[in-house]
Amino acid sequence: MAIELTPLPLPASADPSKFVDFGREVKGVDPGNLTPEQFAEVYDALYKHSALLFRNVSLTPEQQYALTKAFDPDSEAYGHGNNKTQSTKKSILHPDLKTIPRVPQVQLIGNGMVYNHEGLASAALKHPSHTTFHKTRLSEDEEEKGYTRFYRWHIDAALYEYNPPRVTTLYSVTVPEGPMQTVRYDDDTGDELPVPLGTTAFVSGKTMFDIMPPQYKSLAVRTKVRYAPHPYVWMAPARAMPTGLGIETEGLELPLADLPQWDESKIKTLPMVWKNPVTGELHFQVHPCGVQELIMAPLPGGAKREGALYPDGAHLKDLGEVRSLLYKIQRPAIAPQLVYPHDWKERDLVLFHNRGVLHTVVGAFRPDQVRAFHQCNLAASDVPAGPTEEDVHKWA
Ligand SMILES: [Fe+2]
Repeated sequence: MAIELTPLPLPASADPSKFVDFGREVKGVDPGNLTPEQFAEVYDALYKHSALLFRNVSLTPEQQYALTKAFDPDSEAYGHGNNKTQSTKKSILHPDLKTIPRVPQVQLIGNGMVYNHEGLASAALKHPSHTTFHKTRLSEDEEEKGYTRFYRWHIDAALYEYNPPRVTTLYSVTVPEGPMQTVRYDDDTGDELPVPLGTTAFVSGKTMFDIMPPQYKSLAVRTKVRYAPHPYVWMAPARAMPTGLGIETEGLELPLADLPQWDESKIKTLPMVWKNPVTGELHFQVHPCGVQELIMAPLPGGAKREGALYPDGAHLKDLGEVRSLLYKIQRPAIAPQLVYPHDWKERDLVLFHNRGVLHTVVGAFRPDQVRAFHQCNLAASDVPAGPTEEDVHKWA
């Protein structure tokens, strides 16, 4: 049976013209038991539409792992390395992830106390909140009134040693009911976004690239991003911007000498734009919090120098300069009308193209609001492909 694809329901805040290709609900198939032909269609749809939703799904952790692995049969370990985030106690990811004992590549994430769950007698889950990560925080009074923030815009990736996963699968087992909340950007724009409680918010890396002015596109296809060693340990003492789109530059990062032992050869230097293997389109894919340096190549021969940024290339090492440039490039793409906030129902399965979108946890739960999700992504067997020579000539 062929799969059926229908557009995702967009909230009133979204600009439909920017979501023509983004997001599809997949109907008519059981994602835990896809035939090879059905999987080939799902694979294609994922790369074309960036996020796929299946409703009313029954999916064991084993099936979820198998489905995730099918996108990259040579991958094996969880995206951060199996059990790596648990053993690295200083990492800011440490409290957010609990492993399903039978299938260590699948993580239990959520909020509140969960009992007798897939071999875990009990698990205390905590939904990450901006209050522990942003430099400034909403007052308790504001939170009481339903205001909240994006937690941290990111790609699911260790950004050190392991390659960024191709796909993340998120399966909602328990979803608490609750009122809508309002995301405040708090960056002097006055931007706000109404969101369902505990939404996962997505923006398209393709849209991020498409809406950039030409001088940023020229720079993006010429630039490589060097991430810090053990970036989540490095950034742990630092504090984020109120939009969750990167770190404030206050010199709080852990000095490199104080990090767990690291190896130059394991540091990730990745293209700033990643080429979609199915559509050939370019997605601007940068995890702003973990970036340490930007390495720009000069304009290629024949390109117009007029108005070009860094026409002779550059190697930016000043964190403030690196971050402010990235913020200017990325901020327009998280504007309220470009965000898809998923309204979770129990037994939703969302697959997203982790090399084509940015996403973030949103909102805050009370301790008695129990939420349990299964998440899986696998450190990829390859490095994301950057722009081709042809792309560079086209955009530089
Ligand atoms: Fe994530």
